Amino acid sequence: MPTTATAPTPPLKSRLPQVGTTIFTLMSALAQQHGAVNLGQGFPDFDCDPALLDLVNAAMREGLNQYPPMTGVAPLRTAVARKVEALYGHRYDADSEVTITAGATQAILTAVLCCVHPGDEVIVLEPCYDSYAPNIELAGGVIVRVPLTPGSFRPDFAAIEAAITPRTRALMLNSPHNPSATVWTAAEMQRLSALLAPTDILLISDEVYEHMVYDGARHVSAASIPALAARSFVVSSFGKTYHVTGWKVGYVVAPEPLTAEFRKVHQFNVFTVNTPMQHGLARYMAEPKHYLELAAFYQRKRDLFRAGLAQTRLRVLPSEGTYFQCVDYSRVSGLREAEFCEWLTKEVGVAAIPLSAFYADGYEQQIARLCFAKRDETLLSALTRLQKL
Ligand SMILES: Cc1ncc(COP(=O)(O)O)c(C=O)c1O
Repeated sequence: MPTTATAPTPPLKSRLPQVGTTIFTLMSALAQQHGAVNLGQGFPDFDCDPALLDLVNAAMREGLNQYPPMTGVAPLRTAVARKVEALYGHRYDADSEVTITAGATQAILTAVLCCVHPGDEVIVLEPCYDSYAPNIELAGGVIVRVPLTPGSFRPDFAAIEAAITPRTRALMLNSPHNPSATVWTAAEMQRLSALLAPTDILLISDEVYEHMVYDGARHVSAASIPALAARSFVVSSFGKTYHVTGWKVGYVVAPEPLTAEFRKVHQFNVFTVNTPMQHGLARYMAEPKHYLELAAFYQRKRDLFRAGLAQTRLRVLPSEGTYFQCVDYSRVSGLREAEFCEWLTKEVGVAAIPLSAFYADGYEQQIARLCFAKRDETLLSALTRLQKL
């Protein structure tokens, strides 16, 4: 006979008292409720290449279904090391410097947990991806928030320098940047490198959108600058690159001493990542065009979307990389960002994310983030609705 709980559950003290339901979950629920086109959450509404599915299926049929090595299967680690060397010119040892993770999210948490001790300071550049701050809190670290320049979202090096103290253990970098869609230039990366050179600060470089950089610009990986590579955990995500966000497979490359510490936490966290997908991805990576052609694929969607947005009263901000497009809605509404996005979802039928959600203090700029990783018909249907604004 099943029983229902009658005895009291012991109270617990939350490790993350500030965390509630995220804006992404709320907006997706609202979008569904109101039949809105969901350009809020950042994932494709189209499927991946069937050839990738066949490769994973083949791996399963071949019986590659048991625990893989803790660090990831050798063919995938080798494929990652080859790609990083070909694109960024830094050779990571596939055995001792590449680790396959359960998406970038787990890679970033693990990097933070392995190097941040209670009381250590970690610099985050706001606006930033929502997992960074809770990750630092879980490690007992102190979050030091430095804003990117309002308006341009470029790094403010004077502010970063002013935030550095003897207790700074790490800095979290994200380029191409979610949510602003800016991409750090080579000069900016060099400047960061010079700033960190006299310190022991580690860099956690979140590069999940590395293959989505537009208009002929190139992604400047922390791996491509030797002085940064020596102090960096460089994180990427197969989910973003191959349109399979639900698979949750990513990787981290880092110098051997950093990787050794990373793996101590990884081993007792997820231990390892599912086997057939790793083999499928390794085989798929043998063809570089699958990631090299991604920028052109998304640039076409970006241009289609921007051309349509130009016909609306929204002001279109630059989108140098990622699959996000920010818009300034000050000509349309005086509402605060969260209220505007709610109104847009309910009344106009397009779900967006308020930029204030990426700031701890909810900083307001009358900017909303839209995701264009969608089928053309989805984008066109959203544009038809936005033209009514
Ligand atoms: C900046 C950034 N980092 C990390 C992630 C998480 O990547 P994954 O799905 O591989 O965990 C995302 C996903 O939206 C992201 O935008």
